[in-house]
Amino acid sequence: MNDGQTSSRSSASSLLRAFLYADPAAHSLSPAMHRAAFAWAGLRGDYEARRVPPAELPAALAQLREPGVLGANLSLPHKEAALAYLDDLSAAARAIGAVNTVVNREGRLFGDNTDAPGLFDALLDLGAGRTGDREMEGPVVVLGAGGAARAAVYTALILLERDVFIVNRTRARAEELAAFWQNGDAEGQAWAADLSEIPWSKVRLIVNASSAGLSNPAETPLPGFDFAALAPGALFYDMVYKPRETRLMRDARAAGVRAENGLGMLAHQARLAFLAWTGADVPVGVFLGALEERC
Ligand SMILES: NC(=O)c1ccc[n+]([C@@H]2O[C@H](COP(=O)([O-])OP(=O)(O)OC[C@H]3O[C@@H](n4cnc5c(N)ncnc54)[C@H](OP(=O)(O)O)[C@@H]3O)[C@@H](O)[C@H]2O)c1
Repeated sequence: MNDGQTSSRSSASSLLRAFLYADPAAHSLSPAMHRAAFAWAGLRGDYEARRVPPAELPAALAQLREPGVLGANLSLPHKEAALAYLDDLSAAARAIGAVNTVVNREGRLFGDNTDAPGLFDALLDLGAGRTGDREMEGPVVVLGAGGAARAAVYTALILLERDVFIVNRTRARAEELAAFWQNGDAEGQAWAADLSEIPWSKVRLIVNASSAGLSNPAETPLPGFDFAALAPGALFYDMVYKPRETRLMRDARAAGVRAENGLGMLAHQARLAFLAWTGADVPVGVFLGALEERC
């Protein structure tokens, strides 16, 4: 239970409200996670998933300015479109070009991206993100070049301080993403690459941020890839969490490579959003517990 820490924004009587804006929104796991967090923190709050079609996004965002509203999570298709309607952005949201968390700061809307630090924290939990850990050094490979991949590249370059190879079906999008980081102040460097161009024996972390296989299990972002080519101790992190073991995770495990699904990232991005809204640092296990009951 809560050790007494509560938000300065809470009061005995007011109901704190937060939302998910997405389209579709019906099957979201976020309400379960945030309701469990409100309960753990001893806050009177509610979290509601709302289907918001793109044309209704500006009006829905405007409603977040009301007193008692903490903010909202944004999911497909709003993460990029929302930027134009917010008052301030975090450095991460600006660099990634996507907002997954909106915070109502006394009527001003602050846009943040907790996907990137959520992925970082999930990797830390797995022992894969320690800086200066020689066993995990080496470039990171990110599969995909959409919104989730932009967050993963930010995690690799800025939070893990590694070089990153971006592999995407449409290579031009990978090149565009890599070019964004050229001449920046990141520790590492980003390159677009085909599978044949990557020094696999040095790679200890692959992050799948592509949606290949979601609708057609026969599709893969790693055609003909042999996971045994990776460096010893490598981790394959799949952002996908439904099914809990993806085809790529099965392939990795069959080759003796550790593989994890995206539930840890999902839980941590929610934990960080809840922290930004309420000031309550709820343990990630509370969010994972809510997910375990539903996945
Ligand atoms: N665990 C979490 O907390 C978390 C958070 C965010 C996202 N995710 C997951 O991450 C995934 C990507 O999300 P997103 O928002 O980045 O989607 P997105 O913007 O639509 O990007 C999809 C990416 O997948 C690639 N792709 C799609 N079909 C493919 C195929 N058949 N073969 C090869 N590549 C293919 C696309 O390549 P092209 O550029 O060639 O189209 C693109 O790079 C989704 O599964 C999502 O659920 C998980």
